[in-house]
Amino acid sequence: MSERIGIYPGSFDPIHNGHLDLISRSRSLFDRMYIAVLHNEEKRPLFSVDERVAMIREVVADYPDCEVASFSGLLVDFVRQVNGQTIVKGLRAVSDFEFEFQMALMNRRLHPQVETVFMVPREDLTYVSSRLIKEVCKLGGRPDGLMPASICAQLKERLQQQEAL
Ligand code: PNS
Repeated sequence: MSERIGIYPGSFDPIHNGHLDLISRSRSLFDRMYIAVLHNEEKRPLFSVDERVAMIREVVADYPDCEVASFSGLLVDFVRQVNGQTIVKGLRAVSDFEFEFQMALMNRRLHPQVETVFMVPREDLTYVSSRLIKEVCKLGGRPDGLMPASICAQLKERLQQQEAL
């Protein structure tokens, strides 16, 4: 039987516990998972794509079935490149659904053999997003407990560097 390969795409700017919960849940569905970091400089990410890839590699180091890679352009082209069959997306709330639904149908149109599966994170993580974590941290709040301690330290350091500029 061919290998079941899942692709979990995102900006991951930076990765947080909601993402990690989804990764650990998805692992049981696939033989191999690619965590695919979007190269999106026009979105002005806080961390470069190489930094985001390195941060994710650090926190999934104990998962031998997970590979971390970056991609630009169409997600389905990356899926083809790694011979994947399934895109994994997280649904935190109904508000996520509309856009995710559109993207799933567009991806199906572009690559009819690929399926999108939606995963639901642990309920106490449903409100967590990279955007909100960055905002809270920027305004002096503590994101501890919402992301691994090493990522939290790198986030604080990057925000301090930005403030010093
Ligand atoms: O973490 P994000 O920013 O919500 O992730 C969005 C992502 C990377 C999944 C989405 O922007 C994406 O798939 N981008 C690739 C571009 C693409 O394939 N677009 C056309 C199909 S919808």
